[in-house]
Order: sequence, then C-alpha cells, then structure tokens
Amino acid sequence: MRMTSPATVRIITAQEAIPIRQVMLRPGRPAGECVFAHDNDPDTRHFGAFAGGIMAGIASVYHLAPPGASDAGAWQLRGMAVLETAQRRGIGAALLLACRAHVVERGGTRLWCNARTGAVPFYAKHGFEVTGKEFIIPDVGSHHVMQWQLP
Ligand SMILES: CC(C)(COP(=O)(O)OP(=O)(O)OC[C@H]1O[C@@H](n2cnc3c(N)ncnc32)[C@H](O)[C@@H]1OP(=O)(O)O)[C@@H](O)C(=O)NCCC(=O)NCCS
Repeated sequence: MRMTSPATVRIITAQEAIPIRQVMLRPGRPAGECVFAHDNDPDTRHFGAFAGGIMAGIASVYHLAPPGASDAGAWQLRGMAVLETAQRRGIGAALLLACRAHVVERGGTRLWCNARTGAVPFYAKHGFEVTGKEFIIPDVGSHHVMQWQLP
C-alpha cells in the first residue's frame, strides 16, 4: 500500500538507520555491511523520515571532505534512501532539507555525495551538480560525485 501522509523528519541513531540501509542500499547483504565508517563521529547526524506510522526514509551527514580535498566546510551526504512504497512523495526532499539545514547551521559550505547514477536526477533537482566522471563501486554500481554549494 502506498503512503500519502506527509513525513516528519527527526534525528535518529546510526543503529536505527540500519534496516532501511539494508533493504534499500545493500539488499541481500549482511547488516554489518550497513555500518558505515564515521557513523558514530561526534559531528555525524542521522535523520529518519516518519510517515504512515513507520520510518520510511533515512539520510546521514558526515563532516568529511571528498577524497583529495581538505576544506572544513565540506560535509558528505550518505545513506540516503526511501522505502520503495514511499518514493516520489517528497520524503527524499524533506530528508535532504534536514541534512542541508544541519550542515548550514554548522557553517558548512558544501554538501557532497557519491550519487548512484539512478539518483542523479533527484540530487540535480535540488541543486547538486556532477563534479566528476562516472565510477563504479563494487557490488553497488555506477556513481557520480555530486556537490551542492551552500548556503
Ligand atoms: C533517490 C531517492 C532517495 C529519492 O527519494 P524520493 O522520496 O522518491 O524523492 P522525492 O519524492 O523527494 O523527489 C522526487 C523527485 O526526484 C526525482 N527523482 C526521484 N527518483 C527518481 C528516479 N528514479 N528517476 C528520476 N527522477 C527521480 C524526480 O525529479 C522526482 O520528482 P517527480 O516525482 O515529480 O518526478 C529514492 O528514490 C531512493 O531511495 N532510491 C533508492 C536508493 C537510492 O538510490 N538512494 C540514493 C543513494 S546515492
């Protein structure tokens, strides 16, 4: 059944993000592969979007620069996923805005991500730009580095 109620976004723990990471981002893989480096760093925040009485989407931000860069204003967006039954209802956008607000509040100047090729139109719609060539993450698929200049 598809969900129609608006989502409420709030901070969650890294542990709470694991089930949606596993279903949407690492299907068929063990839960251990859904624990990401820096998940428990002090600056890291995990957000959950709640709709229809369940958590329907997740996203995390990490105070990390992309490979080869070192600016303190860079934050990484990672682990963005919305349950299939809840997609295309603005939940991804709500999560993205919560992440953006968190990063801007802390003085961040850019948000970057390794975007799955299938998700590039979603990020582009919100102002992210592709900054590099396509690359493959083994067992996950093709990606592009994208970034959103803030604020
Ligand atoms: C990418 C994702 C998080 C978007 O979440 P969402 O809640 O569906 O996004 P929203 O409803 O806020 O935004 C929808 C808009 O984004 C774009 N978009 C989203 N998914 C898209 C897709 N598969 N193809 C093309 N455009 C897409 C469209 O512009 C769409 O607007 P429209 O429905 O009016 O056409 C979700 O599709 C998802 O979890 N995908 C699987 C996991 C994944 O790829 N995560 C990203 C890892 S980098």
